[in-house]
Amino acid sequence: MQIGFGFWPSKTLLAAVKLNLFTFLAEKGKSSGGQIKKYFGFQCTDRNVYDFLDTLTSFGFLQREGVLETSLYSNAADTNIFLDKKKPSYIGGLLEMANNRLYPFWGDLEEGLATGHPQNEAKNGGSDLFAVLYESPERLKEFVHAMSGIQMGNFMTFGQKFDFSNYKTLTDAGGAGAMLSIMVAKHQPHMQCTSFDLGAVNAVAKENISHWGVIERVKTFDGDFFKDALPAADVVVMGNILHDWDEKKKIELMNKAYNALPEGGAFVTIENIIDDDRRKNAFGLMMSLNMLIETGTGFDYTFKDFTGWAKEVGFKNTSIMPLLGPASAAIAIK
Ligand SMILES: C[S@@+](CC[C@H](N)C(=O)[O-])C[C@H]1O[C@@H](n2cnc3c(N)ncnc32)[C@H](O)[C@@H]1O
Repeated sequence: MQIGFGFWPSKTLLAAVKLNLFTFLAEKGKSSGGQIKKYFGFQCTDRNVYDFLDTLTSFGFLQREGVLETSLYSNAADTNIFLDKKKPSYIGGLLEMANNRLYPFWGDLEEGLATGHPQNEAKNGGSDLFAVLYESPERLKEFVHAMSGIQMGNFMTFGQKFDFSNYKTLTDAGGAGAMLSIMVAKHQPHMQCTSFDLGAVNAVAKENISHWGVIERVKTFDGDFFKDALPAADVVVMGNILHDWDEKKKIELMNKAYNALPEGGAFVTIENIIDDDRRKNAFGLMMSLNMLIETGTGFDYTFKDFTGWAKEVGFKNTSIMPLLGPASAAIAIK
């Protein structure tokens, strides 16, 4: 039942994020239900407002003193760090995208299974996911910031844990907002990084690179990874790239990475790698279903799948490094 009604808590949180409730509370501090109702212009009853806020309280997103008319609401400590849009630690971008795009698209999961066709903007014969996303500058920014927010912890962990001692250069293919390159540059002062992506995306990456003060060691490179060679580097990373594509294209991209590396160079994918037995990493499995919704042909994969493809491409050996939560780095050495 909890899973069956999972859309109730999901939509309650997504609505709060979309309304910027947590950003409002971070700025105003303790607020009554009446003040919140007035600020957001809710036309529903006071009771509806209390129900919404108390649900968020019961989940631990909000704290409350008093009850109903005497209640004062404020953000819980973690909500204040991660869901206040004005803080650099904000990770709500992906939740905004989940609300605006994925929530309605997942309503058509049955149709996706029945037809094998994407259920997103491209559903009615439109272009591929990225062309559709990048048609509108607002959608592009929302998507790039969503990626950055949710991956930040993984990129930070990778920047700290991976052994860069034998390497000097890194190319991040499909680097979006360049946050992986920025995190590696911050934690590994000897590394020079290049974030490779489509030109429109790199405009956002450039803003981030300058914001983080690493323009000397993080560059952008405009390119199309299906048409252009990747800039040569000791380490080539693909974060959440391979899962967008079918098996043939996955191997084509791994070949591109192989060609950009020297002997001993490392190819790294950062994804929600599914456990080999396909029983435990439910998030990775659902991410794979999300690829049906978004691309039709993309899918997430196990470390065993990755090793098989890496061997086919010519890599010598592979290993896996757990990152945060359901995510890992799968590594192949040339
Ligand atoms: C799912 S996002 C992953 C972003 C980032 N690496 C991460 O882990 O959060 C996929 C990225 O691949 C980029 N991309 C898609 N098609 C591309 C292409 N043909 N050439 C270069 N980049 C592409 C997109 O612009 C986007 O930034």
